[in-house]
Amino acid sequence: MNKTRQDDLGTPASQATDTVRVEIDGLPAEVLAGTSILRAARESGVDIPKLCATDSLQPFGSCRLCLVEVEGRKGYPASCTTPVEDGMKIRTQTNQLSKLRRNVMELYISDHPLDCLTCSANGDCELQDMAGAVGLRDVRYGFDGENHLDAPVDASNPYFQFDASKCIVCSRCVRACDEVQGTFALTIEGRGFKSKVSAGISEDFLDSECVSCGACVQACPTATLMEKSIVDHGQPDHKVVTTCAYCGVGCSFQAEMKGDQVVRMTPWKDGEANHGHSCVKGRFAWGYASHRDRVMKPMIRDNTSDPWREVEWDEAIQYTARRFKEIQAAHGRKSVGGITSSRCTNEEVYVVQKLVRAAFGNNNVDTCARVCHSPTGYGLKTTLGTSAGTQPFDSVMDADVIVVIGANPTEGHPVFASQMKRRLREGARLIVVDPREIGLVKSPHIEAEYHLPLLPGTNVPIINAFAHVIVSEGLADESYVAERCDLESWESWKAMILRPENSPEAVAEVSGVDAETIRAAARLYGNAGNGAIYYGLGVTEHSQGSTMVMGMANLAMATGNIGRSGVGVNPLRGQNNVQGSCDMGSFPHELAGYRPVSEDKVRTQFEQHWGVTIDPEPGYRIPNMFDAAIAGEFRGMYIQGEDVAQSDPNTIHVEAALSSVECLVVQDLFLNETAKFAHVFLPGTSFLEKNGTFINAERRINRVRKVMEPQQGKDEWLITQELAQALGYDMNYSSAAEIMDEIAELTPTFENVSFDFLDEVGSVQWPCNDNAPMGTPIMHVDAFVRGKGLFVETDYVPTEERTNRKFPLLLTTGRILSQYNVGAQTRRTDNNIWYGEDLLEVHPSDAETRGIKDDMLVSLASRKGDITLRAKITTRVKPGVVYTTFHNPETGANVVTTEYSDWATNCPEYKVTAVQIAPASHRSQWQEEFAARAEAQERLAEAD
Ligand code: SF4
Ligand code: SF4
Ligand code: SF4
Ligand code: FES
Repeated sequence: MNKTRQDDLGTPASQATDTVRVEIDGLPAEVLAGTSILRAARESGVDIPKLCATDSLQPFGSCRLCLVEVEGRKGYPASCTTPVEDGMKIRTQTNQLSKLRRNVMELYISDHPLDCLTCSANGDCELQDMAGAVGLRDVRYGFDGENHLDAPVDASNPYFQFDASKCIVCSRCVRACDEVQGTFALTIEGRGFKSKVSAGISEDFLDSECVSCGACVQACPTATLMEKSIVDHGQPDHKVVTTCAYCGVGCSFQAEMKGDQVVRMTPWKDGEANHGHSCVKGRFAWGYASHRDRVMKPMIRDNTSDPWREVEWDEAIQYTARRFKEIQAAHGRKSVGGITSSRCTNEEVYVVQKLVRAAFGNNNVDTCARVCHSPTGYGLKTTLGTSAGTQPFDSVMDADVIVVIGANPTEGHPVFASQMKRRLREGARLIVVDPREIGLVKSPHIEAEYHLPLLPGTNVPIINAFAHVIVSEGLADESYVAERCDLESWESWKAMILRPENSPEAVAEVSGVDAETIRAAARLYGNAGNGAIYYGLGVTEHSQGSTMVMGMANLAMATGNIGRSGVGVNPLRGQNNVQGSCDMGSFPHELAGYRPVSEDKVRTQFEQHWGVTIDPEPGYRIPNMFDAAIAGEFRGMYIQGEDVAQSDPNTIHVEAALSSVECLVVQDLFLNETAKFAHVFLPGTSFLEKNGTFINAERRINRVRKVMEPQQGKDEWLITQELAQALGYDMNYSSAAEIMDEIAELTPTFENVSFDFLDEVGSVQWPCNDNAPMGTPIMHVDAFVRGKGLFVETDYVPTEERTNRKFPLLLTTGRILSQYNVGAQTRRTDNNIWYGEDLLEVHPSDAETRGIKDDMLVSLASRKGDITLRAKITTRVKPGVVYTTFHNPETGANVVTTEYSDWATNCPEYKVTAVQIAPASHRSQWQEEFAARAEAQERLAEAD
């Protein structure tokens, strides 16, 4: 059998808790009640041949290969669809069974190309294995009769092909698409001999509803659905389990290797976050790691108008250290700082914040979480006591009512979305609060009971109105509140929430959602046995982001929806390690584990370990760094794996700041937009080249494992360490594991974590310490971490960004499934086939009044700047609202966004910008300048 294939027990595990005793081929076995005979046998070490069954799907019973004999029963039941019963005596191997199975296999093989030796699935084909397992030697029927051997190959999908000639119509692919992914893209068309798998009437895979998650490919037991990378490179010979480097779901994968080349990424069945499922990004879009654009040598230049000069690592590090020392000597200790990356491992992030604190000697360190989930940290810590979500993903399977606010899980967090959709198909009820009609509102077998298409910027009034209904209609869980919450804050919050301006009727005017819908949705949540809230950047990226996070926490506490499975307040984190980069002490006011740098006791602990004095004054946040750079006070910047020139708001302001920096160091895989302003480029490593950990949205610490050596010659943590040494601070780790050991020693919530421990248990959710040696899946179970849950008054203070006659529309931004964040990775993959450029969604009525047609070039102007992009006319947005993504640098979506930000954390208000749109004939001035700059950089590179 193939060396990388994962165990398959045939049918899903039984959910029962009681066991039954059976006898399999004369040997006793004890298994969970409800287990199939097929699985019971496999668990006991007896392999029954099978084809249509697999343990990720409900049994189907179509192939008749898994027949067994059961004492006292007539006939030959299919073992995959027959559950065990107490006392059952089963025989899996008899002459009659062998004959029956051989006959079944003979029929399959008689309509199958006998090209096993040259087939790309050779060695990893269940059909081939089963032919061997049943001892099939001859096929009595020739190929003269009707067959499917000339059926065409559909190679339209960039990542996998469908070779219909090899299909045995077991329908595992169809069931995987339905049950696991929830897209319902495939059907079995026709009957009998004519039955075949179809991706839509006369459609190929590319034009169908398929979202390329790969579940069908994984489920297919033959070479019919096959990764093109395997067709091209052959079967893998070894595997390494690691973690996806894209979103905050944190899916576990087997990197399957042939020599030192990755040939396939297969979702790992034992991964606690994904249970063997994947999305197109993690499963297929890993080619960027070996893209020709990757920079493999360090580069320096004195001025950004000079060509880059490739140098050895030592020269690059000494050069950086010298320039940072010169800047600090001339402008003071606080004139330099750094930004950590939520795409890097915890260990890499930890050493960068340590570099800033111990070697730069200040707290000028911030992280890109500043611009996405910083309000989550602030809001949840203030109300509940912990800067993180409350639940594991699996908790959604116990939810009765699911509220999705400002998140688009099917695009942003696809694997979790599939799990959520499974629960919704089982009967959970859904409320969606989003200005757009996101995919969850209506998709196959799912329909939101209430969609509240609120105006961007009005989350807080909506959540206050929910609370108003719950309190005024007696739906609050008074005994929960009395037992677990701070009663003084409860009373004052109630008084606030009952004020007339928080009634659904008043809020309807502000939000554009009618009062009855608000009231009905609030009642649905208020009456839920288990009500769970999931939210994303549509909550946090507002000037009231922190207020809204606290508003949701208030609501959950008031209804008793925190502290058990099926409930909670759950941030869906954007990047793979947003949670971790915050946990690691990347904020200017906090050391690892969210402990204030201003507290003597906290500082002393780190000072003793690090052997330095730590500045008690918090440092600059990212926006302060930019402002200080323009003011000439901040002159040296070390940016780890972030492209602030593309991702941060008000691009023109950011570019001005970056241009003002005397020494800008960029550590990244590619020469990104920020690198155009840089003086030092330190090539980074892809996730395939790292040892370390990522922490996902559930606080789950997952191992990232090296599947190949760093392609540019150096571990990323080592680059930072050598820079620290060159600056005179003796940072001295010998491995990433040692860095985690220090994190664990200095961070109470990580006390028991080590690479060895994670390798042993798989993954663990923090806090993981002596109080919770195996981690903490659900937070706040008996009491809130802060003691009593704190209700915080959430008065609505509207953003200062207002529409007017000049800018009458509201722009909101988001992302789509196939692209990721600034697109640095996904744009360097075949994912571009689905979304090659940022489009502007416009409602038909707004388009018509401006003479805008589908696909037309339009200008998008705000008070900050203007860009042009193509229009997509759609009713997904409501009148008065337009929407775009920010995946392509040449679009410059953030040229138009403003510097308004969350009052508590400075998280930018990406989601609300007043704009005007009009037909356009040419690129905007900024886009012209961008193109000119790109050309100039190219010329410099050529001159080099
Ligand atoms: S494509 Fe594969 S999984 Fe689907 S029916 Fe054919 S053989 Fe079965
Ligand atoms: S790749 Fe995913 S979405 Fe596409 S057909 Fe297969 S299971 Fe369905
Ligand atoms: S859902 Fe997120 S973590 Fe999982 S494979 Fe997709 S991008 Fe990776
Ligand atoms: S595996 Fe049981 S009928 Fe196919």
